[in-house]
Amino acid sequence: AQPVMYVEPLQLWSVFRYDDVKMVLSDHARFSSGPGGPPAAAGGPPNGDGFSLVTTDPPRHTDLRSLVNRAFTPKAVAALEPRIEQITHELLDQVSGTGQIDLVHDFTYPLPVIVIAELLGVPSNDRDRFKEWSDEVVASADAVIGGSHDKGKQANDEMNEYFRGIIAERRKAPREDLISSLIAVEEGAFRLSETDILSFCRLLLVAGNETTTNLIGNAVLSLLENPGELEKLRSNPDMLASTIEEVLRFRSPIQAMFRTAKEDVELRGQVIPKGSKVIAWIGSANRDEAKFADPARFDIARDPNPHIAFGHGIHFCLGAPLARLEAKVALTAILDRLPELRRENDEPLEPARGFIVHGVKSLPL
Ligand code: HEM
Repeated sequence: AQPVMYVEPLQLWSVFRYDDVKMVLSDHARFSSGPGGPPAAAGGPPNGDGFSLVTTDPPRHTDLRSLVNRAFTPKAVAALEPRIEQITHELLDQVSGTGQIDLVHDFTYPLPVIVIAELLGVPSNDRDRFKEWSDEVVASADAVIGGSHDKGKQANDEMNEYFRGIIAERRKAPREDLISSLIAVEEGAFRLSETDILSFCRLLLVAGNETTTNLIGNAVLSLLENPGELEKLRSNPDMLASTIEEVLRFRSPIQAMFRTAKEDVELRGQVIPKGSKVIAWIGSANRDEAKFADPARFDIARDPNPHIAFGHGIHFCLGAPLARLEAKVALTAILDRLPELRRENDEPLEPARGFIVHGVKSLPL
């Protein structure tokens, strides 16, 4: 197959090899993340209004990223661990003793939504609405290949209205939450506008939802499909961190990101013309045999494992420490509490919506 390929019907350039994908993701001088690309799947505005961290280039990106870094610190994330453990066990308590669980519906979906809602400081009982919104935004990325933007736009408008209300409340009465911190940053030496805060909240809601849900689900699925690896992990719990990295490589929750070429770029004998849309296939890069020995093998001891599931360069996933922490807590609890874990049946599993995310809609165990 061609490592760099123009997909005529979609008018997109696809890039598949590890080195090329890494280059496209990180070379912001030649590949823009800015409007024109369709990164709605990662929380960007499907209708192009407003901005989002993930759809901005330097120098604006540099300023925004340093502002949100001040509110979204590794320390703030690490402090969430006890609460993540508590939510995890509460969710598992609700299904324990029934002998059956739909891992996605009962566990991997609610966990990240509750965590992100608490982090932002919004009521987690609004989570069904959050789920609908992020589903629509992710699915609207398919509009790139000919669908309609309408529902994604509607979800965006509804999210804006929702968060505008919360921001107004926190301005009057700040709390110990991320939205209050973002407002405080706005009022310090640097400034985040209300539009900035809104689009960041939308981004977190979507980016923090589908991705972590699928990471945990993909982990359980991969372990069930590879009973030898599951056995190895059960007898060596300290292999959990490398297991999570291998799941990120083997079943990357985000399969691709978009860029726009800022100039003609020659790559493997082809010229990607200035202005072209480019899809960098992360999922393909993470299975490139030039980089990973036996890439189709799920190997929880893989070392080194330089996967790029969280991207590479200045847009490297802000939520990576949180996603890794949630996966660690969730898998520890699942392995502990569900010793006889197995698929309920051998029916084929339905994939999650949208071609960017990789996961299953439901996982009956
Ligand atoms: C960026 C993947 C979880 C927030 C990214 C990017 C990837 C990614 C590939 C780079 C986008 C690009 O280069 O254009 C993932 C995966 C996750 C995950 C696989 C889970 C397994 C999260 C979580 C949050 C989050 C839990 C927040 C709570 C963000 C943000 C950005 C980002 C804000 C934009 C950073 C920037 O543009 O500077 N993520 N993510 N992600 N992610 Fe994640």
